[in-house]
Amino acid sequence: MSLIEEKFLKLGAEYAPGQEVRQNTNEIKLRFDKIPGTPVDFSHGDVDAFKPIPGSLDVFIEGVHIGGKQAYTEYRGSMDIRENVAKKLSNFTGAKINADKNFIITPGTQGALFLAMGSTVAKGDKVAIVEPDYFANRKLVEFFDGEIVPIQMDYFENDASAGLDLTQLEEAFKQGVKLFLFSNPNNPVGVIYSKDEILKIAELAERYGATVIVDQLYSRQIFEKRTFTHLCAQDIVNPENVITIIGPSKTESLSGYRLGVAFGSAKIIDRMEKLQAIVSLRAGGYSQAVLKTWFSEPKGWMEERILEHQAIRDDLVSKLQEANGFNVRLTEAGSYLFPRITQLDMPINEFVKILRLQANVIVTPGTEFGPQFTDSFRVNFSQDHKAAVSAIERVIQVVEAYQNEHVK
Ligand SMILES: Cc1ncc(COP(=O)(O)O)c(C=O)c1O
Repeated sequence: MSLIEEKFLKLGAEYAPGQEVRQNTNEIKLRFDKIPGTPVDFSHGDVDAFKPIPGSLDVFIEGVHIGGKQAYTEYRGSMDIRENVAKKLSNFTGAKINADKNFIITPGTQGALFLAMGSTVAKGDKVAIVEPDYFANRKLVEFFDGEIVPIQMDYFENDASAGLDLTQLEEAFKQGVKLFLFSNPNNPVGVIYSKDEILKIAELAERYGATVIVDQLYSRQIFEKRTFTHLCAQDIVNPENVITIIGPSKTESLSGYRLGVAFGSAKIIDRMEKLQAIVSLRAGGYSQAVLKTWFSEPKGWMEERILEHQAIRDDLVSKLQEANGFNVRLTEAGSYLFPRITQLDMPINEFVKILRLQANVIVTPGTEFGPQFTDSFRVNFSQDHKAAVSAIERVIQVVEAYQNEHVK
C-alpha cells in the first residue's frame, strides 16, 4: 500500500459521528423483531430540539446585507467581530486576548483544531493525547505524521478529578513530547479536569517547554455549578505555549453556521492564519457576523438550556444505572455519556449497527475515542427529552436481549 493510501485508510470516516449511513449493514442478521420508536441520532446534538441562539438568523442576514466587506474578511476574520468576541472570551476565561494578535475565527471548532494541529505537528513529532478523547485528535496526529503518545484517563476511579495519569504525562514529556492536546470538558466522558490537574498540566508543560492545545468547546455547559479551571488564565503557563479552542456549535446550537475560534500564542495564531489561507481562506464571512450573538444570549437563556440538559442527563443516567450490564460516570459538563457495556459478546461496531437496525438508535462506537474502548459507546444527549429517554430504553432492551441470548 502506498503511503498516501495508508494515511487515508487511517482516516476512515465510516464510524465517525454523523457518518453512520455509510456503514455496511448487509451482513447483519437481527435476532429479534424491530423495536418501534422515534428514531434518535445520539451521534450529535439535535438543533431542532435545542434551537440556535435567538436572533442568530437576523444577524446572519445583516451580515449578508453588509455585502463584500463581510464576505471577504481578513483570513483570521473580521476585526470588528474579533474585537467583540475576544473581549467576551477574556471575561469568560480570565485570559488577556489581543483581538489583533492572539485570535482567529475558523470554520467550526473542528477548523480550529485542524489549523492548531497543522501549525504545531511536524513529521515524527511525539504528541501526547488522552485516551479517551475526541475522535479527531488521534486522526490529526496521524494525518500530520506525528507519533501518538497516549495518556490514560481512569475516569471510573476518580470522582473528584478527570483521572488523568499525570505520571504518564510527565514521562511523555521526558521522552520528548513537545505537544499535548486534550479536551476539557472531556469528550466523550463529560468530565471536567480538576484545578489540581490543570495546574499540574500547566506546570509540566512549562517545565518541559511543551505546547498545550486545549479544546474547551463544552466549557459553558457546566452542571451543578462545578468549578471549571481555564488553563489559559493560570499564572504558571507561558501564554506563548497555549492555544485554546472553543466555538458556539454545541450548547448554543450554532453548528450549522460552522463557526469556531482559537486564541493564545501569537506565533501559533500567525501560522494558523497562513494555513487557513490555503485551506478555506476564512470562516464563512456572513456566518462570522453570527458570532456577535455568542456570549450575548438573552438573559437566562443559557441557564435554562443547561438545566434542560441536566434533566435529560439525570433521566438517562438513572435508566442506565437501574439496568443490568452498564457502567456509566455522571456527566459533569457537556452533552455526552460514555457508558460501558459490562458483557458485550460482539465487536462494538457490530453492536452499533445492530442498534441502528433493531431499535432506530444511532450511537458512536467507543473505539472512535481510543482503540481500547471496545465495550463502550458515546451518546450525545442534546435531544428531545422524551425521545432520548425512549431511545435509551431501547438501547437497554437491545443489550439485555442480546446478553440473555448469549447466556442461553
Ligand atoms: C471536543 C470537540 N471538539 C470539536 C468539535 C467540532 O465542533 P464544531 O462543530 O464546532 O466544528 C466537537 C464536535 O463534536 C467536539 O465535541
